[in-house]
Amino acid sequence: MPIAFSVHNYAEEQREYCKKIKKIYEDLFKVQSPVAYVKTYGCQQNVSDSEKYKGMLSEMGFNISENCENANVILFNTCAIRENAENKVFGNIGRIKFLKKKNPNMIVILCGCMTQQQSICEKLKSTYSFIDIVFGTHEAHKFPEIIYNFLNSRELKSPKKYVFLNQDSIFEGAPLKRSSKIKAFVSVMSGCNNFCSYCIVPYVRGRERSREPENIVRECKSLIDSGYKDITLLGQNVNSYGKNLDHNINFPGLLKKLDSFEGEYKLRFMTSHPKDATHELFDTIAKSQHISHHIHLPVQCGSNKVLEKMNRKYTKESYLDIINYARKKIPDVSFTSDIIVGFPGEAYEDFLETVDLIKKVRFSSLFTFIFSPRLGTPAYDLKDEISKEEKTKWLLKLLKVQEKISEEIRSEMVGQKERVLAETYCEDQKYLMCRTDGSIIVKVPSERNFSGEFLDAQIIDHSRESLLGKLI
Ligand code: SAH
Ligand code: SF4
Ligand code: F3S
Repeated sequence: MPIAFSVHNYAEEQREYCKKIKKIYEDLFKVQSPVAYVKTYGCQQNVSDSEKYKGMLSEMGFNISENCENANVILFNTCAIRENAENKVFGNIGRIKFLKKKNPNMIVILCGCMTQQQSICEKLKSTYSFIDIVFGTHEAHKFPEIIYNFLNSRELKSPKKYVFLNQDSIFEGAPLKRSSKIKAFVSVMSGCNNFCSYCIVPYVRGRERSREPENIVRECKSLIDSGYKDITLLGQNVNSYGKNLDHNINFPGLLKKLDSFEGEYKLRFMTSHPKDATHELFDTIAKSQHISHHIHLPVQCGSNKVLEKMNRKYTKESYLDIINYARKKIPDVSFTSDIIVGFPGEAYEDFLETVDLIKKVRFSSLFTFIFSPRLGTPAYDLKDEISKEEKTKWLLKLLKVQEKISEEIRSEMVGQKERVLAETYCEDQKYLMCRTDGSIIVKVPSERNFSGEFLDAQIIDHSRESLLGKLI
């Protein structure tokens, strides 16, 4: 059943505001080349959104700087996933206060997932009143309009600071300023319908909505034509792609379309929810030319009791079935995962089941987190008897087990031939930083800069975090 959401086209709605803003800076502020600083927190979705903000700021006439000292506009694109993510943002905006005092014309903007929460907005209003504009994740498509309205109303001394629509939307046609010329993120869908009981994302990003397949195909084709070699499709749960669309298309169907271009390139995607990782998905990967054999499949926990409380809708056994099926179809497939340690009610025995699971699956690496209660989520109110110290001990134990597995996987690769993508070149020390299909870093000595090219490398050694290779 398609869900109602609006699609906004940047070119039709916002370009005029960019021109007006450019003129305000030139005529009113007498600044010919204003500077903008953008700081991004959180996941790849936010990184991708920031590329849009930077693109729009460039169209408004701003130069994007890595330095906030002399910026005319400072934008923080925030994350709310765990308490420490929010604390980092509060720490950094606190430091901006003195810059704002020095330069009152500087515009300080806060957007992203944190600002979608009522309690955060109240805190911002009371404690961080020097912030000029706060807007939520559903307003990204109106960014130039919001800045224009602020610049206009500032003269009237009544800035419109808090802009919230709370209507899910899709943003097409934004002028992206990508951070790499080799690797690109392409958002295929926004929002999430899963409501895992610990997670804030569905509340701050809204319901699941997919982009039209032809828009995604056009964007990927143009990236490949302009030399991009590694494309990551983004969504909170890419495996449910297409559910809200009228067309008869699902995620494997989209992958097949994107696998059909000429030339050598790599197609990745994240994140996959195990409950929606179908046989069709792995069959599609097995038959494809370009889809990476590395899959990020967050399991969160190895105890069925805890998985149920997390509302994950799969069991340890069904997760292992998926892994086994994938390994049968794609023998060189590699997996990475996310783990939450110390969910409320999790006992040491439950935690040991997670340790057992990671030993069985042998992930190439893990992202591990201690449970962080998020206001507004069901898990916030659950009784949590295990202390932070105890949870930290569990986490360290888990990391130790995983470190050994990762090391074994890297050492098994020594002697193998790998097709790697050269990402950057270190001129001084004459080596290339490359990445394997499984996303493992390989340092390859080279007299020449081959950045942006696929190369064959023989793995000759391994260290704690990477591999050493030589060109063949
Ligand atoms: N959509 C993705 C994950 C998005 S959030 C998925 O479903 O896999 C990235 C990771 O943050 C999650 O996989 C989870 O491991 C972690 N996470 C989310 N909420 C958390 C919380 N309240 N406390 C600790 N970790 C959390
Ligand atoms: Fe959060 Fe679960 Fe949605 Fe991932 S699938 S974003 S963990 S609610
Ligand atoms: Fe954080 Fe929002 Fe991503 S909460 S993890 S930036 S979707």
